[in-house]
Formats: sequence, C-alpha cells, structure tokens
Amino acid sequence: MTTSVEPTILVIFGGMGDLTWRKLAPAIFNLLLDKVLPERFAVIGLDIKVGSPDEFRLRLRDGVNGFCECGKIDEKIWNRFSANLTYISGDFADPATYATLSAQLKAREKEWKLPANHIYYLATPPGIVGTIVEGLGKAGLALDRQRVRIVVEKPFGQDLPSAIALNGVLTAVFDESQIYRIDHYLGKETVQNILAFRFANALFEPIWNRRYIDHVQITVAEQVGVEHRGAYYEHAGALRDMIQNHLMQILTLIAMEPMVSFDADEIRNKKVDVLKAIRPTSKEQVQELAVRGQYGAGRMAGKKVPAYRSEPGVKSDSSAETFAAIKLYVDNWRWQDVPFYLRTGKRLKTQASEVTIQFRPVPHQSFPKTATSGWQPNLLTIHIQPQEGIVLSFQAKQPGPTLHLSPVDMHFSYQEAFKSKSPQAYETLLADVMLGDATLFMRADQVEASWSALTPILNAWADLKPVNFPNYPSGSRGPEAANALIAKDGRSWFEPILRED
Ligand code: BG6
Repeated sequence: MTTSVEPTILVIFGGMGDLTWRKLAPAIFNLLLDKVLPERFAVIGLDIKVGSPDEFRLRLRDGVNGFCECGKIDEKIWNRFSANLTYISGDFADPATYATLSAQLKAREKEWKLPANHIYYLATPPGIVGTIVEGLGKAGLALDRQRVRIVVEKPFGQDLPSAIALNGVLTAVFDESQIYRIDHYLGKETVQNILAFRFANALFEPIWNRRYIDHVQITVAEQVGVEHRGAYYEHAGALRDMIQNHLMQILTLIAMEPMVSFDADEIRNKKVDVLKAIRPTSKEQVQELAVRGQYGAGRMAGKKVPAYRSEPGVKSDSSAETFAAIKLYVDNWRWQDVPFYLRTGKRLKTQASEVTIQFRPVPHQSFPKTATSGWQPNLLTIHIQPQEGIVLSFQAKQPGPTLHLSPVDMHFSYQEAFKSKSPQAYETLLADVMLGDATLFMRADQVEASWSALTPILNAWADLKPVNFPNYPSGSRGPEAANALIAKDGRSWFEPILRED
C-alpha cells in the first residue's frame, strides 16, 4: 500500500507530556507500521522541559512500548523512525523558540529538497493555546493556508464566552480550514459507524423519528477515577470534560438529518443543526433537568479506592462533579418531545459506553395478558466500548405449547464480523489531519453551539454549591438522584451489561 500523505513534519507542543507519551507516540508508530506515514516524515517535539533529542526519542519509545498494541518493537524499523525525531526545549512565550522551530522546519525541507506539510499539534494544557498560536503567527509559521494545519485538543474553552474568545484567537492567525479541533470519540470506529448504520441501510431511517422512538439514552460510564489529573479536573468536572464534547458529539450523530454527500462541511452542517435545535434550559429548570454527583470512597474490583476529595490535586471540600446526567430535547420535526438522556461518571460499577434507543410500544396489544408478562419495547443498543457492536432486542414466542412472549437479542459484533481489531481513535484522527480531511473534527460553530446548550447548567451549578457531595460510593451506579431524573418520566436507565462475545 502506498500512502497519499504528503511529506509531513509533525510539531508536537507538549512533546514530553502525558498525551504525547500515552496516545500520540503509539498512534504515530502504528501509522508507520500500517504504511500510512509518508516516506518523508519527521516529528519535532517541543516543550518547556529541558531535554535532548535522545531523551525525546526515549520518551516516545517508552510510550510505544507501554501503549501500542503492535507488540515488540522491531529495532530496524524503530531506528529508521527515530532518526527523524528531534526535540526543541523552549518557552512557548519566547519568540526565540519559534525562530528555532522555523530554522528546523526549513533545514528539514532543504534536506528533503521538498516542501512539507507542517502540522502543529497542541498537546498542551488549554491555558497555553493562545500563547502558542500568537507565537506561531508572529513568526510567520501559519501563513501557508494549504500546507499548515493546527490541531487543538479539548477542552476547547471553559464555557461559551471563553470558547468564542479562543476561536477568535485561533482564527486571527489560522483560517478555519487549517484548524482541527479534536474530540477523540469521533475517531472511534463504533462512533463513526453510527452514520453508516443510519444512512447506508434503508431499514432504520424510516423509523428514526418521534413517531417510532420513545427516547434515547447515551451512557459513558467509567471505572477509573480522576487518576493524576485532579488539578485539571477541579476546573472541569464531568459536564465540561465529557458531556460538552464526547456525549454531545454522539448525540449529533444519532439525531442529525441525512447528509447529502460525504463532505466534511455537509456533515458538520447537519450536526450543528442538531446542536442549534437543542431546547434552551432556563436556570429555573436546571434542578429538574440535570443531576450532578461526586464519588466517595468505595471498593472497585475488591480493592478499596479513595473518595474524589482525597485524590491528589483535589480540594478537600471540592464541588467538582464526577458524574452528570442531563435530559435534553431537540426541537425539530424529527425529534419534538423525544427526550435524550445523557449520563457519564467516573468510578462507576461498569466500564461501558453505549447508546440505547427505545422504540414506542406496539399500537395495539393483541396477545393475551398471560403471554406478555415479560414484554419489553424494542431496543436498539449501540455498544461503543469496550464491547463493540449493535444489539437489536425484540419479542419472540417462547417454544412450547403455551403462548408466551419474551425479549430476545440479535447481535452484531465487530470482532466476529471483521475478525480484526479496530484502529485506535488517535490513529484515525492523526491520519485524517495528515490527509487534510476535517470530517471528524469540530468546527468553531459546533463547539460554540454545544457550549451554548450547556452554559445555563454550568452557571446554575456554579451559583449553587452542592451540599451533599460525595453522593455516590465508588463502584456504584451513580447518585440516586440520577434514577429519580428519569423515573419521574416513567422510565429507567438501561444498565450496561458486559456480554461474552
Ligand atoms: C477524555 C476525558 O477526553 O476522555 C477523560 O478527559 C476520560 O476524563 C476519557 O477518561 C475517556 O476516553 P475513553 O476513550 O477512554 O472513553
């Protein structure tokens, strides 16, 4: 296979950081093994940390060793690859850093005797993004609209005003077509498959609306705690860290209108329409439509784990939510009055991300009551992770002389159907940036529309400190109030069940 990626120099700001080590290094190396990287490919790590190119190479190698699913590193391949890894240690606010970068970029192109694409990957804390963008702009490193791209990690801002300001900073230097706002959920195969499932099959689209769908649940449940990210999480919380981006992106894929073509802007237009149609929540309604929680101490896999407030970098009276559940409506013809329930949390009982679509009951129940005691509406569950697949539940007649109906499942499993492992999200997304395909990246208006839908909740929560935190033990299914949120509509959460594939 030959790649269609042009000669590329990837500049990683935050080259010595956790994201580079854990996610980018293994993704880049896998792309090399999969022959996606071009012959002419170099990485420049850039960080405030004093270090040498050799230390940078070691750091990346360590990341590949620890997190790449590619097995033992082949020394020959690694040596060829690492010859193209270099490091600049410098202050992001110092113009000299950008002068050094500029000289290195030019030197590399001179050596290759070819112009290269420059990708600036900001694997840095959000507070420093403006400084880097300004530095690149002043050094004239953003001028080539075709060859220069910038990748910005989430969280993109803290709320609507800060996201607008950040978009302003970015677009003062880069054209929107050069900006790749990353949300790694969009790189997951199972998330991308939502579009294929909905629009490459004739079966589902006719029933994908308020006439047939009762409600939608989107759950991203994690077993991990905040780990070493307490300092970041204190300012983020679950609503900013997960719902504003990952869960809202899933919601747009579930709710969007069919696209006319598979064009980046066409798809993003359709997604932004969903976000703009989300019914505004007034401050008074927040109590009724949103629930927050924070984990206390508990047991996970038989081991004691500490409360959020005892995690490193966390205040002992912290108000940060580690769990959030919200109810939203999408006000348009397709979805009027169909509730979308979204929830996410850390230190929950089960690790699972899934979307469940509950269909309306049959219009007329013609079976005798005795036959339908176990009756359940049709359910379509899209398993995003760790299980990857789709399950359709429907009623079947139990074998035997007496008429009895019970729910059964029809399964699709990626593992079974394709017999191969899905690529990691960062691999897919990095390859797309190199190819200049922005379909899976968030546009400025999408990010702003998502913040806009959630800002009333953020504001109401900031104004009213929680009095009952921690309100769920680690290893549980979350706070009781989350059950009440959905129970008052006469519904209940579908708890993730991990099946044997
Ligand atoms: C990140 C969040 O964006 O996504 C983390 O900042 C979260 O808090 C992570 O743990 C979850 O990603 P994944 O791919 O493991 O579901």
